[in-house]
Amino acid sequence: MSLRVAVFASGGGSNFQAIAENAVNYRVTLVVCNRSEAGVLGRAHNLGVPAHVLSPRAFESDKLYAIALLELLHSEKIDLIALAGYLCKIPATVVEAFWGRILNIHPALLPRFGGKGLYGRRVHKAVVEAKEAFSGATVHFVDEEYDTGPILLQKKVPVLPEDTPDSLAERVLAVEHQIFPEALDLIAQGRVQIKGRHVIIRPIKTHDD
Ligand code: GRF
Repeated sequence: MSLRVAVFASGGGSNFQAIAENAVNYRVTLVVCNRSEAGVLGRAHNLGVPAHVLSPRAFESDKLYAIALLELLHSEKIDLIALAGYLCKIPATVVEAFWGRILNIHPALLPRFGGKGLYGRRVHKAVVEAKEAFSGATVHFVDEEYDTGPILLQKKVPVLPEDTPDSLAERVLAVEHQIFPEALDLIAQGRVQIKGRHVIIRPIKTHDD
């Protein structure tokens, strides 16, 4: 039985689309979005994935927002959550309930160029200004902080001398679209184990094993 994945997104949703279209051992069965005008909603509609708009601002307290999220995730029997450009913090009770089952994509090589306030174009601007030779993308498990959870997959992208934040963002985004479905598939195959701050990826079992 394939795992049921919820994608949380606030923006255009190109990662949502890559995750949904490249699913092998999992299925994207839900989109959660905090903005009713976000591009991801159109993409979800086109791919026939049910989407819910749930803004933390619509709730009287963080606690009520967390309860609503948990109710939705449980009623949709969600196994895994993929944060794909989701600009709201996930409440601690949700992180706890889904510990080891929430992944985030970050458009840089964590632990560098991550943390509160470093998202989207700001990340690429910081990388270009620091004259880094490489940037890249990281898929990591989510903990209670920003961008600090155990890292599952990373892929490098060279920074070219003529790069602007936008040109770098475009090449990093293409890599995000590769590694996010790959990471979800590794989990769906049962090959991923978290040990403290580290992640172990088991090799594929063959008939000779
Ligand atoms: C991506 O760059 C992702 O790394 C970041 O937000 C962006 C989302 O892009 N967290 P999209 O909405 O998936 O197109």
